[in-house]
Amino acid sequence: MFLFLFFISAALIPPTLGAPNYNHSDSHDVYWQERAAMARARILEAYNPNPETIVTDINQKTKEALVHSQSETAPHNGTRRNLGKKYLGPCVATNPIDRCWRCNPNWALNRQRYADCAQGFGAGAIGGKYGPIYVVSDSSDNDVMNPKPGTLRHALIQPGPLWIIFSQSMSIRLNQELIMTSNKTIDGRGALVQITGGAGFTIQYVNNIIITNIKMTNIVASPGGTIRDSVNHFGFRGGSDGDAINIFGSHNIWIDHLSMSGGADGLIDAVMGSTAITISNCHFVRHDKVLLFGGRDMDEIDSKMQITLAFNHFGKHLVQRMPRCRRGFFHLVNNDYTHWLMYAIGGSHHATIISQGNRYIAPPLPDKRQVTHREADSPESEWRKWTWVTDKDVFLNGAFFVPSGDPNGAATYFALEKIRPAPGEQVYDLTRFAGELKCIESLPC
Ligand SMILES: *[C@@H]1O[C@H](CO)[C@@H](O)[C@H](O)[C@H]1NC(C)=O
Ligand SMILES: *[C@@H]1O[C@H](CO)[C@@H](O)[C@H](O)[C@H]1NC(C)=O
Ligand SMILES: *[C@@H]1O[C@H](CO)[C@@H](O)[C@H](O)[C@H]1NC(C)=O
Repeated sequence: MFLFLFFISAALIPPTLGAPNYNHSDSHDVYWQERAAMARARILEAYNPNPETIVTDINQKTKEALVHSQSETAPHNGTRRNLGKKYLGPCVATNPIDRCWRCNPNWALNRQRYADCAQGFGAGAIGGKYGPIYVVSDSSDNDVMNPKPGTLRHALIQPGPLWIIFSQSMSIRLNQELIMTSNKTIDGRGALVQITGGAGFTIQYVNNIIITNIKMTNIVASPGGTIRDSVNHFGFRGGSDGDAINIFGSHNIWIDHLSMSGGADGLIDAVMGSTAITISNCHFVRHDKVLLFGGRDMDEIDSKMQITLAFNHFGKHLVQRMPRCRRGFFHLVNNDYTHWLMYAIGGSHHATIISQGNRYIAPPLPDKRQVTHREADSPESEWRKWTWVTDKDVFLNGAFFVPSGDPNGAATYFALEKIRPAPGEQVYDLTRFAGELKCIESLPC
């Protein structure tokens, strides 16, 4: 009876697009209550009281990587990307994450070494390192209660660490949100894997997740239902609102080399204090609300969010939220923003935004050139106190960033003068290979 009522109410109330779903599961489910309490304690532990050390570290490594790669690649500073052509030259890896593995022809012989390549706040994410390899060979998702061995869902509900790879290229349509357990790597290198036309991933109250080299496109809202979320547990879930990746009360997450486009809601939402996250080398296109960091005004735990956004390309037909932040500390470094229709970076509630070495190319809309956007409910007297700084960013086509906070205070506090970022002029090189890569075993990728 209870389930029935829950179902009816879920069916009557359509999910509000743009707001993540906070009533995922039956709130009387003791299993989820316990997991929520444990996750909260772990978030407080994962929070780094000295975020400037992480900022400094990735900036330093990026500059070193550029020095080493300079001899290998012709610098490029145009505003056009690729000019529609695929790069066919020898492998060049310009940023410190890529330099860690991409041009090594033996990358597939020791896939788990890749777990050491992360930088930024998510650098501690080990994913399924030390666990066995699990080969996904079946692209179906027909039974969300008893997933078939060989499917991605079967892999992701197993206890213990797993390094998940794919036997061949495949397209997977998820019938319901795919709820994953801790210590998993989804490694699409060596295959072209597409998650498309169905539900997305839910990373709820877990840690140590790496997702790399897949494409996620046209993720749609899906109805609730009974879903197995681990080998030992299943439960009723409310409808999912169409996020491609929903990170909820989780930490130590690294998302690298994803191509993402066209979902019903967010491409990546990180909410409920999710922290120790890096999103790198991704290519985003064709979407309205791209990244949401902090979903509700009331969630004070969001002040523990610490996220690095590095070497991403925000490309064609994007509208807003790259990202949209509440509270928390966000390091946006060496990203290429080549299109937006409303704004690039938004925030509220005292979010701290450190924008370094990005390239911002404004759209040809005279009133949309401002990179930054403060939510309308914050008076200027309030947002003037938030630390939003720009350092070595490049602004083209009239793009401009409205900083706030004490500029000198920010400089000393975040050591901007000590370790400067790689400048925005080098962003094209740093992000040139963003998105899903076509890797072939025993060749540089
Ligand atoms: C979630 O559901 C509970 C009851 O199950 C309700 O009290 C709460 O207000 C709901 N929260 C939201 C954000 O809808
Ligand atoms: C690239 O940089 C060089 C030297 O800094 C400059 O002379 C040239 O005009 C730039 N090209 C473009 C397309 O901006
Ligand atoms: C995940 O891995 C870490 C480190 O190896 C381990 O301490 C932890 O217990 C694992 N968590 C789960 C849920 O298996």
